[in-house]
Amino acid sequence: MPAELGTEAELTREIARLRAELARRERESADKELQLERYAADLRETFKEERALTQQLTRSYRATVRALANAVEARDAYTGKHAERVAAYGIEIARAAGLPRPDAPEMEFGFLLHDIGKVAVPDAILYKPGALTAEERALMARHPAIGAEIIGGIEFLAGPAQVVRSHHERWDGMGYPDGLAAEQIPVAARVFAVADVLDALTTDRPYRPSFPLHQARTMIAQEAGSHFDPQVVEAFNSIDDTTFVQIGRDAW
Ligand SMILES: [Fe+2]
Repeated sequence: MPAELGTEAELTREIARLRAELARRERESADKELQLERYAADLRETFKEERALTQQLTRSYRATVRALANAVEARDAYTGKHAERVAAYGIEIARAAGLPRPDAPEMEFGFLLHDIGKVAVPDAILYKPGALTAEERALMARHPAIGAEIIGGIEFLAGPAQVVRSHHERWDGMGYPDGLAAEQIPVAARVFAVADVLDALTTDRPYRPSFPLHQARTMIAQEAGSHFDPQVVEAFNSIDDTTFVQIGRDAW
């Protein structure tokens, strides 16, 4: 025992002092805990607000993208709600193919805006009832590159621009505009190619009526490995008819 604590009175005082010190530290620690809890609550609130803002931003982006897609479709009356249907088909196929985040806005935006470059195609070509000349075909074939250029400069559409540019590429390398082959083609564009052709086959065109779904399936299966990524076709085949019928109905 230290010399300064020699007497009982001193000992009692020291114990009282230590108790007071302990109580003070306990208060301090309780205060700090309270402060930390407040920080955590503030942080949770900030995250909640940020999440709400992000959701709001995504909704605004989606509305903008849909407005753009509708503007393109307004010129191309016979396709109806082609962009919406094809985007929904594409998301289903992306899910079946096991793509990460098939519901991500980037995927949907690329699908919705795939033909935005058609704004640069003259009406006389877009609406021509007969076959296109080689020159007209070349002009028409510029729409993926033009579309990608139109939206590529917009930050939130930089990813979707890849789908827009590559949606007419073919698995065998015979597509356009870059003649990419197999896995060189962005996977979302490979998925989209199947969705796009499915919709084209199952809707009426000025020059032919629509094909029934089972026939469209056969035609797409025949193109696995030439036009389409065989794995994507496999994923497409794993989706039952009712899913596509339902989407077709909802999007009209
Ligand atoms: Fe196209």
